[in-house]
Amino acid sequence: MCGIVGYFGKRNAAEILVDGLRRMEYRGYDSSGIACLKDGVIRVVKTPGKIKLLRDKVDASSDEALRTATVGIGHTRWATHGAPNEINAHPHTDSSGRFVMVHNGIIENYREIKNGLAQHGIACVSETDSEVLAQLIAYCYKDNLEKAVSEALQKVKGTYGIVVMTDHEPGKLVTARCGSPIVIGLGKDETIIASDAAAIIPHTRDAMYLEDYDMAVVTADGVRMFDLQHSPVNREVTAMDWDADAAEKGDFAHFMLKEMFEQPDAIRNAIRGRLDFEMGTAILSGLDFSPRDAAQISRVLIVGCGTSMNAGMVGEYAFEEMADLPAEVEQAAEFRYRNPIITPHDLVVAISQSGETADTLAAVREGKHKGAVVAGICNVVGSTIARETGRGVYLHAGPEIGVASTKAFTCQVAVMLMMAVKLARGRRMTRHHGQEICRWIERLPELVEQVLEQNDAIKAVAEKYAGTENAFFIGRGYLFPVAMEGALKLKEISYIHAEGYHAAELKHGPIALLQENTPIVALLNNIPGKEKTIGNAEECKARSAPVIAVVSEGDEGIAAEFDDMIVVPDCPPCIAPIPTTVALQLLAYHIAAARGCEIDQPRNLAKSVTVE
Ligand code: G6P
Repeated sequence: MCGIVGYFGKRNAAEILVDGLRRMEYRGYDSSGIACLKDGVIRVVKTPGKIKLLRDKVDASSDEALRTATVGIGHTRWATHGAPNEINAHPHTDSSGRFVMVHNGIIENYREIKNGLAQHGIACVSETDSEVLAQLIAYCYKDNLEKAVSEALQKVKGTYGIVVMTDHEPGKLVTARCGSPIVIGLGKDETIIASDAAAIIPHTRDAMYLEDYDMAVVTADGVRMFDLQHSPVNREVTAMDWDADAAEKGDFAHFMLKEMFEQPDAIRNAIRGRLDFEMGTAILSGLDFSPRDAAQISRVLIVGCGTSMNAGMVGEYAFEEMADLPAEVEQAAEFRYRNPIITPHDLVVAISQSGETADTLAAVREGKHKGAVVAGICNVVGSTIARETGRGVYLHAGPEIGVASTKAFTCQVAVMLMMAVKLARGRRMTRHHGQEICRWIERLPELVEQVLEQNDAIKAVAEKYAGTENAFFIGRGYLFPVAMEGALKLKEISYIHAEGYHAAELKHGPIALLQENTPIVALLNNIPGKEKTIGNAEECKARSAPVIAVVSEGDEGIAAEFDDMIVVPDCPPCIAPIPTTVALQLLAYHIAAARGCEIDQPRNLAKSVTVE
């Protein structure tokens, strides 16, 4: 969701804050703002729209203090309460203008607090829940900012990651977290606070992660940490392993394009050192199951949201087919609230690129609470889900900035295939079968490269369909989740209404929508059920819908009766989702590009959804 940043040091704060916000813009981009403190006075600059507009406004400002201040806070917003206009943009000040705060999360009892403040003559000017917290902190202030912040936070229900400053105590920033991430980067003579490592890595690799209910005070003497009751807490300093260039798009037109082309390397990193060809299994040090422990697991419950949930659906097939384990995938919010039956023999696998998705995190907590073995598959090292699960597998895919997830999906699937092989080998899978799957997993980067080489051919198909307003994706077996993911990619970035359906389900309703301008992307790869899906595609063709046939190499003849063709490598069913998804990512990308869409920052979306 929103991105927040704070700077305390010796350099130009405004410059570092705006650059930090640019690096976190994928978290939210409907409005932004910064506040700097100079000579005991707080200056606030805010604007609706993208960070570029904020940068222009700061550059155009005649206020010299903005160029010399060395302390400040900033925010890029994804609106929850109130329209994305300047008044609702952060930083929020109290009525006196002497306290200023940026907030990520949701204050659930803000109406109650707002009414209480009104009884003391304090009126909020914005429609946001966040301003209420800024006003409350000012109301609680006597002579110490951290005391006021902790007193205010104890009255709050909901989630927050905040950074606060006041001109009463200019040599200080106070930050706190509950449910929304806060990382503190420790540089030489400077401290950078952010909701995301992306804003910190250009300045330092040394970082501390706040845990829920932690607070930190940043002064010229360094960082002090304690809990809301003021008992000191210690958090380890860890080294962040991403380099700053990885979060820049270089010569690519979009982060999404760069990240799609990074997939061969990302998958290489995800599988490096993890395949044991001799024993036909995977070595996943973060999943410390002995074969005996593995044999105790009786069910796998996979939870996630969005693209991660679609990756989980592929995992569901893999766990069942390879490891003979009943597996279910569930939208994380539903898992959390429907009171699922969980036993100590269940393995809950939480999948999240960011490791911060609120619903997935809540599902992790629910799983742990009910005694299941809980593991995470995350990309962001040190993220909340990675830390709370305590065991799991990192993707090592590098930072994913494009809001539409690409390399995270393919790496998540690669990791789940390795998990499935590991569990399977502790159960019924033969060494020979395990070796065969390992060899195919090892070939994944090469298979993805083969698809990327067809970028131009896929672009030519995409351009024919750029005027489309509705589309369907159909598949079976391992390719049913791929149909879901292909449709999700298309709708996210091109705004075309797209739905992924099981090929057999299409005629139970959606077929009524088919016409000559409703293309069908039919996944006709060489896997069991292919003939039936071809039949389903023919049914669509008979209703005048154009069909884009995705076929395996060597099977090009199938496409003769359809309108367009995309060729993917011929590979076993469990491997097919990865190259096939890459083809659909390229298709969605080029359709969106032909429509002139804002690919990296689609309207209304955010990369990391830290509210329910
Ligand atoms: C948001 C993003 C999606 C992502 C989903 C889950 O909706 O826009 O791209 O798949 O959150 O995010 P996670 O970080 O948990 O994988």
